Amino acid sequence: MSAPLSPSSANSPAGSALITGASSGIGACFARALAVRGRNLALVARSKDKLEALKSELAPGHSLRIEVIEQDLSLEGAAQRLATALDERGIAVDLLVNNAGFGAHGQFWKLPLDRQAEMLRLNIATLTELTYLLLPAMLERRGGGVINISSTASFQPVPYSSVYAATKAYVTSFSMGLAEEVRGYGVKVLALCPGGTATNFFEAGKFSKTDFPGGLASPEDVVEAGLRAFDGGRSVAITGFINQAMVFAERLVSRRFTAVQAGRTFRPKGLDDGTRSNE
Ligand SMILES: NC(=O)c1ccc[n+]([C@@H]2O[C@H](COP(=O)([O-])OP(=O)(O)OC[C@H]3O[C@@H](n4cnc5c(N)ncnc54)[C@H](OP(=O)(O)O)[C@@H]3O)[C@@H](O)[C@H]2O)c1
Repeated sequence: MSAPLSPSSANSPAGSALITGASSGIGACFARALAVRGRNLALVARSKDKLEALKSELAPGHSLRIEVIEQDLSLEGAAQRLATALDERGIAVDLLVNNAGFGAHGQFWKLPLDRQAEMLRLNIATLTELTYLLLPAMLERRGGGVINISSTASFQPVPYSSVYAATKAYVTSFSMGLAEEVRGYGVKVLALCPGGTATNFFEAGKFSKTDFPGGLASPEDVVEAGLRAFDGGRSVAITGFINQAMVFAERLVSRRFTAVQAGRTFRPKGLDDGTRSNE
């Protein structure tokens, strides 16, 4: 269902929507949903073949400009290189969807340090730098916005995904703070917080899908809820009733309690957690 056009709407036809991590999952669904809304697109990820396939899927049905940009966004300086590529191609971005990200499941000190450092750069540094580089043009035009893909993990510590949950806590806090800074300029910022969603996320981070007893949402539903929230000017959106109820309930108990409970849920099967050696 299309919403009224406005400079800050996800439907606005003016500039392009830049989607990071558009090669699969939630990012690819954002691309499909925004193409239906008539948005020109800039699709970014490492898998150029998948981005080209998505472009071919979207292009015939719509007379849109769709640009594919192959980039590893976990590398130092990636945001600046992407901004330069956008300039060179004459792409003006008025909707930035910072979606690229990954998690890792396991004991913090046993997960490879370089993988966790890569996560910090992708989930936090590149997201922040891209926002910094693309926001001024939106402020000048007094329209457009940023959708940052956070997570329900942003509202509580998550043992065995401690770094991932901390990166998402950053994303929600940063997005909600920035949303208030730019509101008067007609620019929107949304922290979109899905719970477990059926994508490649689980394979990439070696998570178990059975740790999500409530089942997994479809990425299409997550994206539709996100675009509705963005158009409605919300600064945070938790997708799905059960996730909303859980985040609400977490506010009623101590943070330590939520951490202990999450530790029970996400503890890798058969793990020696150190307590046996203290007995
Ligand atoms: N699925 C869930 O349960 C869930 C829940 C809450 C939040 N999220 C968040 O949702 C976002 C999207 O994840 P998803 O669930 O759709 O998982 P996904 O299917 O694994 O998609 C991840 C996307 O990020 C891209 N990406 C990964 N590393 C990259 C890099 N170094 N440079 C550029 N792009 C990179 C991947 O593309 P390439 O591999 O081609 O580079 C892919 O397009 C993430 O921020 C994730 O944290 C997911």
